[in-house]
Amino acid sequence: MKRIGVLTSGGDAPGMNAAVRAVVRGAIFNEMQVYGIFDGYEGLMNGEIEELGRSSVSDIIHRGGTILRSSRSPKFKTPEGTRRAIEQAEKFGLEGIVVIGGDGSFRGSVNLLRGGIVTVGVPGTIDNDLGYTDETIGFDTAVNTVVSLLGNIRDTTIAHGCATVVEVMGRNCGDIALRAGLAAGAESILIPEVPYDIDAICDKMIAGKKRGKHHSIIMKAEGVDIPTPELAHLLEERTGIKTRTVIPAYIQRGGSPTAFDRLLASRLGYKAVELLRDDVRGVAVGVRGEEIIVKDIEEAIDSKNKPDLKNIELASILSI
Ligand code: ADP
Ligand code: F6P
Repeated sequence: MKRIGVLTSGGDAPGMNAAVRAVVRGAIFNEMQVYGIFDGYEGLMNGEIEELGRSSVSDIIHRGGTILRSSRSPKFKTPEGTRRAIEQAEKFGLEGIVVIGGDGSFRGSVNLLRGGIVTVGVPGTIDNDLGYTDETIGFDTAVNTVVSLLGNIRDTTIAHGCATVVEVMGRNCGDIALRAGLAAGAESILIPEVPYDIDAICDKMIAGKKRGKHHSIIMKAEGVDIPTPELAHLLEERTGIKTRTVIPAYIQRGGSPTAFDRLLASRLGYKAVELLRDDVRGVAVGVRGEEIIVKDIEEAIDSKNKPDLKNIELASILSI
């Protein structure tokens, strides 16, 4: 393959820029032409496509967001949208496209593949909800951002002797809540994959207070099926302990990527280029331990992430 495109799609994630840089520089190193597709699938349908050179990606390895911008594009999901996207890819002579995004973006790439455009998926989402890879690009940064915020939240929670419910992102996946909750020493962690027990959370809050503890942090993933204000109200009513809420929302998606995410993005972005160079069709790249892995894209989409049971147990042991 000699001419490829690269796009970022879905929720942006810190490290997407490092991945774009790796794709562009990797393609040039392999004597391929590389085109940036702006605004994800929306831009592909509209032909927002331009050739990138080695200096187009200068000074971006440390930046959050994505220089190619991103979008959620319901139109692309329609047969008409997919047809327009394929037409534009053909017009620009793109033989393959590196799709950097989450499971939704990977599903979109399958539609392109069926229309004859070769794609390689690079997992970029803070949610870490793709089970075939240990980590997705952006997850580590989001966890570190939440851990840092929890330091501030703990200070003010202690000062007022109260409790705080912190709601973090992760549509259907509790990994940010679990990893950050463990790292920050949260008293309770609620994730969508495991049923929660209100009585147990209340008992822990009351027991802590009796021992002279001045705070309780309850970490909740957004996918848990009780609205955060309702949960806080319920806890306060049952325990008599004032319970606040904090929802950091998009703050978790921005910020400079950690070294881990920059490395992951650089390795996976370059591997995606090698696969297109060698005309490999319909795959996604990921990591298992130290190894880069290549997975059939449909299998990658179907491999739902499972929470680490050992971490769930550890969180419960350490928060007695
Ligand atoms: P993420 O990639 O972060 O999971 P989304 O789920 O929003 O984010 O997906 C990004 C985009 O991928 C969507 O806006 C849409 O254009 C495309 N997409 C998502 N799901 C599908 C699908 N089932 N078929 C085709 N395209 C899809
Ligand atoms: O990027 C994934 C995600 O962060 C989810 O955790 C969350 O549900 C979603 O994005 C919200 O983002 P948006 O408002 O862009 O749809």
